[in-house]
Amino acid sequence: MTAQKKTGPDATDVRPAPVISVIGTGYLGATHAAAMAEMGFETIGVDVDPSKLAALSAGEVPFYEPGLPELITKHVASGKLRFTADLAAAVAEADVHFVCVGTPQKAGSHAANLTYVENATRGVAENLTHPGLIVGKSTVPVGTAARLRGIVREFTPSGIDAELIWNPEFLREGKAVDDTLHPDRLVWGGASAAADAVIREVYAAPIAEGTPVITTDLATAELVKVSANAFLATKISFINAISEMCAITGADVSTLADALGHDARIGRKFLNAGLGFGGGCLPKDIRALMYRANEIGANRVVGLMQQVDEINMGQRERVIDMTIEALGGSVLNRRVAVVGAAFKPLTDDVRDSPALNVAAALHLRGAQVTLWDPEAMETARRSFPTLTYSASMEGAIEDADVVLVLTEWDEIVEASPAALAAIVGRRFVIDARNCLPVTDWVKAGWTVRSLGRPTPVTGAPVSVAAGTYDAVATAR
Ligand SMILES: NC(=O)c1ccc[n+]([C@@H]2O[C@H](COP(=O)([O-])OP(=O)(O)OC[C@H]3O[C@@H](n4cnc5c(N)ncnc54)[C@H](O)[C@@H]3O)[C@@H](O)[C@H]2O)c1
Repeated sequence: MTAQKKTGPDATDVRPAPVISVIGTGYLGATHAAAMAEMGFETIGVDVDPSKLAALSAGEVPFYEPGLPELITKHVASGKLRFTADLAAAVAEADVHFVCVGTPQKAGSHAANLTYVENATRGVAENLTHPGLIVGKSTVPVGTAARLRGIVREFTPSGIDAELIWNPEFLREGKAVDDTLHPDRLVWGGASAAADAVIREVYAAPIAEGTPVITTDLATAELVKVSANAFLATKISFINAISEMCAITGADVSTLADALGHDARIGRKFLNAGLGFGGGCLPKDIRALMYRANEIGANRVVGLMQQVDEINMGQRERVIDMTIEALGGSVLNRRVAVVGAAFKPLTDDVRDSPALNVAAALHLRGAQVTLWDPEAMETARRSFPTLTYSASMEGAIEDADVVLVLTEWDEIVEASPAALAAIVGRRFVIDARNCLPVTDWVKAGWTVRSLGRPTPVTGAPVSVAAGTYDAVATAR
């Protein structure tokens, strides 16, 4: 592409700043669009979902993300941020086009469904009316961007200069606004000198803050993102595998993780043993990596990711088994309180949520499951309308035969075990996130079972023997 005609938003140069289009306004795109506006750029968010667009245009965010409604409201009001379904009009107005559409797992396969990315890229290319920089942000299998360049070449009107680069996104749901405004690194691949200048202009604010920039080729940029997620998933499955040994031997996986975490080469983050990972990214990303690795003959990656996935899914089985055991061998018609439905705290995202998965599995086995989550009630209800939902944690726990803590929300971690003990049917909690202050719960008369963390013996009468997974409780 030719060098863009413009400079930064605050420059005194006569050339205006680039206008930004963001294609796809889900978790990634809505946050990115708001952040672009906050960085001073006129930004147009494009989506194919009219209800999402209507909500965003009214300053409402159709999902829970702390700080995002405020940012969107601010910039819709300032006029810097608009949302539209009219891709052609947005592309005609904008200079830099961020592709932020979904790359979900294909039905019946481990492969990523790249249809949305292909359609969005093609849509941008064929609607270009002046030189444009297309910036892929979605998470894609290595080799996708090179293929998309073919689409750009084929569909860009002749005589118009277009370039596609890849700039993967590392934001975390729940911290998406801060992660986007102040990223820990910026990576882009495949940029010519002119494209590099444009993308540096777009990211001038975080670069000025000292954010490290790594520029590379397309394949490396694509692989950085999937490798990051694969590494995080591996770390979680590693500690979950170790938690099984802790459970058998009576060792404490939380203390073990704390001790490991002091080693700067290891670090404490992503070493929380428990129900495992879920959400719209890690599970589908490791499967897409597995699939792509298999396609290109990188067999060690296939084997490694297969193990990581199996260990992760096995944690859900462990919690289901613990629940059956806690209820004496059958959950049929027993009252099971599930606290937490989101795949992690600070989000209402229930895509591949381990919590919801366990709740649904117990429901299918005949348990009377009542579920509560501080933010994910609506998303959970849409996915599993047949479960019973309670408007409060207390309502879910009332008269329950067993309580399952499946998402480590502060509301749950900080709840009074004594108050909950007074309303529950049977004081038995399965702390599937190893997040509860166990001693406090035991003092309040609860029997606590965890994944790989022994618990002090409770005074409450419990008819069920300690299982194979959770270590026999001993006073510690
Ligand atoms: N959610 C995260 O935390 C996160 C973090 C980093 C990267 N990613 C990656 O970002 C991508 C998007 O993820 P998400 O969680 O935002 O997904 P999402 O499902 O929340 O959003 C995708 C959006 O794209 C829209 N869309 C689909 N086709 C379109 C088209 N042709 N034109 C315009 N809009 C279109 C959909 O309507 C939807 O609103 C994925 O590749 C994901 O792996 C996500």
